[in-house]
Amino acid sequence: MSNLKSADAWPINRRFISHTPPPTRSHCTMASSWLTPDQQAALRGIAEAMSAPGKGFLASDESAGPWLRAGHAEAKKIPDTAEMRAAYRSMLYTTPGLSEYISGVILHKETLFQSDAAGNKMVDLINKAGMIPGIKLDSAYDKAGLPGTAVGPLGHPETWDKGIDDLEKRCAEAYAQGARFAKWRNVIQIDPSKGLPSELAIDVCVKNLAHYAVICQRNGLVPIIEPELVPNGSHPIEACADATERVLSAQFAALKLFGCYLEGAVLKPNMVKNGLTGPRAAPEVVAATTIAVLKRTVPSAMPGIFFLSGETALDEDNEETATINLSTMNKMFAHLPWSVSFSFGKALQKTCIVTWMGKAENVEAAQKALLNRAKANSAATNGAYVAGTCASVGIDGNVQMAGGAY
Ligand code: 13P
Repeated sequence: MSNLKSADAWPINRRFISHTPPPTRSHCTMASSWLTPDQQAALRGIAEAMSAPGKGFLASDESAGPWLRAGHAEAKKIPDTAEMRAAYRSMLYTTPGLSEYISGVILHKETLFQSDAAGNKMVDLINKAGMIPGIKLDSAYDKAGLPGTAVGPLGHPETWDKGIDDLEKRCAEAYAQGARFAKWRNVIQIDPSKGLPSELAIDVCVKNLAHYAVICQRNGLVPIIEPELVPNGSHPIEACADATERVLSAQFAALKLFGCYLEGAVLKPNMVKNGLTGPRAAPEVVAATTIAVLKRTVPSAMPGIFFLSGETALDEDNEETATINLSTMNKMFAHLPWSVSFSFGKALQKTCIVTWMGKAENVEAAQKALLNRAKANSAATNGAYVAGTCASVGIDGNVQMAGGAY
């Protein structure tokens, strides 16, 4: 007789087969955690609010004016001054109705401590609008990279981010200023012919992120953990799947090693895609491959997964591509254990920036563009976005975006 149980002898987890929404998360605290039950509850409360159904993050933490990253010929001419950045970002945060689709806003340090032209603190604008402010805490990377590692498609060796040394202090300052979560993005390059990413770079990257995560948690900030495999290169989607699985497996092992409280943290991964100049994979293939990798690697204790949008080829509409991919995932996989949502920078802002172009008279139209795209991405978290129904600037004016550290 076979030792295999028949299918109906296995315990059935109704959460994955029923058509009713999954039950709310149980609120247990982990006695083994180095955090007190109160600290755990506070972190979990923030992470769950960030992961509210139908909502995602607005990544507005670009180190320079976001119009330099938008990859648009005319928009990149907008003057990159502190005043222009404040005018643009205060416009984003005061968009009427934005909190219906956006739970958290990631800020650059400049913005966290900045006020708008009328003297209102940016954090106050965000809180007043019903969203949660957070801060980007990595201090970028040196292109010199890790000695002895190969040069990847970005033109430099493999890297890791600076910023751990004074992180404790910067976390405390950000919390005092009103931030309740943080972001740290490490860049990982793919080049199968050179063995990239190397085991060494993965190890350094994931431990760097895990160290950041627990320092954040000690200071009351929910860490967004972002090991980004960039799409530069000519590799097929399979290479990205293989590398992403290696990175995420190592990432969660490192988070365990450092004692990260997963219920009070969220993941910001890349979608699994082909390289920018590689054979193009259809949205259904991107969706199926991405979810397969996440199911293999991400514990269900983590409340949310929030994709970055990433660079796209010049003949692609980056906003539509990101929304369609996200929607396809949630349509094909309706009952996942995490909120599968967005933390887009470029893919939420491009049409908004091109509509604004630095002019006060365009504010209302630009806010509408942001709201429309945020609404489209919210629909995508339910698998309900219909391609082509959100107006976008499309590929008109597409130029190479400014690269490097976010
Ligand atoms: P994208 O602009 O690629 O969406 O990235 C957002 C981000 O926050 C990267 O860290």
